[in-house]
Amino acid sequence: MGNCFGSCPEEKEKQPQSPAPKPAGKELSWPKENGGGVEQEQYPRWPSVNGGGGGGVVLEAARLRVFTLAELRAVTRGFKPEMVLGEGGFGRVYKGWADERTLNPAKSGAGVVVAVKKLNPESVQGLQEWQSEVDFLGRLSHPNLVKLLGYCGEDRELLLVYEFMPKGSLENHLFRRGAAFEPLSWDTRLKIAVGAARGLAFLHSPDAQIIYRDFKASNILLDSDFSPKLSDFGLAKHGPAAGKSHVTTRIIGTYGYAAPEYVATGHLYVKSDVYGFGVVLLELLTGLRAHDLNRPSHQQSLVDWARPYIAGAGAGSGSGSSGRKLAGLMDARLAGQYPPKAALRAARLAHRCLCGDPKTRPSMDDVVAKLEEIESMAAAKTSRGTRDSLPPPRRSPYRSSGGKP
Ligand SMILES: Nc1ncnc2c1ncn2[C@@H]1O[C@H](COP(=O)(O)OP(=O)(O)OP(=O)(O)O)[C@@H](O)[C@H]1O
Ligand SMILES: [Mg+2]
Repeated sequence: MGNCFGSCPEEKEKQPQSPAPKPAGKELSWPKENGGGVEQEQYPRWPSVNGGGGGGVVLEAARLRVFTLAELRAVTRGFKPEMVLGEGGFGRVYKGWADERTLNPAKSGAGVVVAVKKLNPESVQGLQEWQSEVDFLGRLSHPNLVKLLGYCGEDRELLLVYEFMPKGSLENHLFRRGAAFEPLSWDTRLKIAVGAARGLAFLHSPDAQIIYRDFKASNILLDSDFSPKLSDFGLAKHGPAAGKSHVTTRIIGTYGYAAPEYVATGHLYVKSDVYGFGVVLLELLTGLRAHDLNRPSHQQSLVDWARPYIAGAGAGSGSGSSGRKLAGLMDARLAGQYPPKAALRAARLAHRCLCGDPKTRPSMDDVVAKLEEIESMAAAKTSRGTRDSLPPPRRSPYRSSGGKP
C-alpha cells in the first residue's frame, strides 16, 4: 500500500514542494496542502464482467470473508513477532493458517497459509486505504493480481487477509542480499515483467478502468514459481471519466516511481502507471533501486542516470555501441547471462515507457505484446540451442564513479 502522503485538493492544482530526503529504499512524501482533508474517492460501480484482459474478472460486489479480530488473532498465533512477513506503510504483515474452505483459524501446517496485514495505529494510512483495498481488489480477479480473501474492521483495528505469496516481494529479491534471495535469472526477470504487465493491462482494460498509482517493486509479490501478482490497491483510482484524459487528484505515491506529470500537477493519467512500469523494468535490468540516497548525487535517480544508456537501445544487433553501453548498466548479478538483443529491446521499451509526455508512452497492451515478443525471441534461441549471452561487463559506469551499494 502506498506509504507516502501528500495532498492536493481536487479543485486546486498546486506545484508540490520538493520531497524531503529520506533514507534509501523508503518512500518520500509530499507535504499535505489541504490540512490533511480526506479525498473523496469515487468507488466504481461496475457491472459484473467475465473475460477481457486475459483471464480477468470484475465482480459486481466483493465476495469476501468478514473476520473477527479474535479469529485473526488465532490465525496469526496472537500476532506473534515470529509470524511477521514484512512491514510497510499500512502496518505489519503476518503469516497465518486458515481452513481452506471456511477460512476459519487452522492449526499450523493445516489448511492454507494466509497473509494478514494489520494497520499500525501510528500509520498515516488508515480507513481510506483499507476501504479502497476492499472495494477495488475485493472485486477483481486476475492471475496477476493477489487475491484478497477477507477483512476485519473491529474496535478501530483494520486488517486485510490475502493469499500467501511464498517468495515475498520483487523488491526483496532484487535488492536484498542473503541466502533467501538468490539472484534472479534473466528468464525469471522477464517472466515477472510479463506477468506484472498483464496485471496492469487488465486494470487499464475497459472492464476495470483502474489507475493503479502504486506500481513498484515492493508491490509485486511472487508465487512459489516466481509468477508475479500485484498487491496494494490503497491508492487505486477509477477513471478517467469518458472523454477525459486524466483524473485530478492529490499527489501521493512513491518517490522514484511517480510519473513527472503527476508529481508536477496532480494530473493522473492511465499512462502514469506506464511510467511506473518503465521504472520497474529498469530496476529488473539494472538491479538498482529507483531512488537511492546512498548513491552519488547524479546517480540517485535511476531514471535520470540510466536514460542516456537506454536512449537508442535496441538498434542494431546488440553488439554495437548500444549493446556495449547497455552491458555496463545491466545487473552484475546476472553475470552476463542474458541475451543481448532481448536486453536491448527491453531497455528500449523501458525508455518508451519513461517518455516525459504521457501520450507518447505505449499502452500496457502494447507493453505486454512487446514483452511477449522479447520472451519468444529468447525461447526460439534456446530451442535452436544458440547461446546468446554477453560476457560480464568489463566496467560498470556505476562502479566507476561511486561504488554500488
Ligand atoms: N500476500 C503476501 N504474502 C506474502 N508476503 C507478503 C504478502 N503481502 C505482503 N507481504 C510481505 O510484507 C511486506 C510488506 O508489504 P506491504 O505491502 O505492507 O508494504 P510495502 O509494499 O513494502 O510498502 P508500501 O506500504 O509502500 O506498499 C512485503 O514486502 C512482503 O515481503
Ligand atoms: Mg505493498
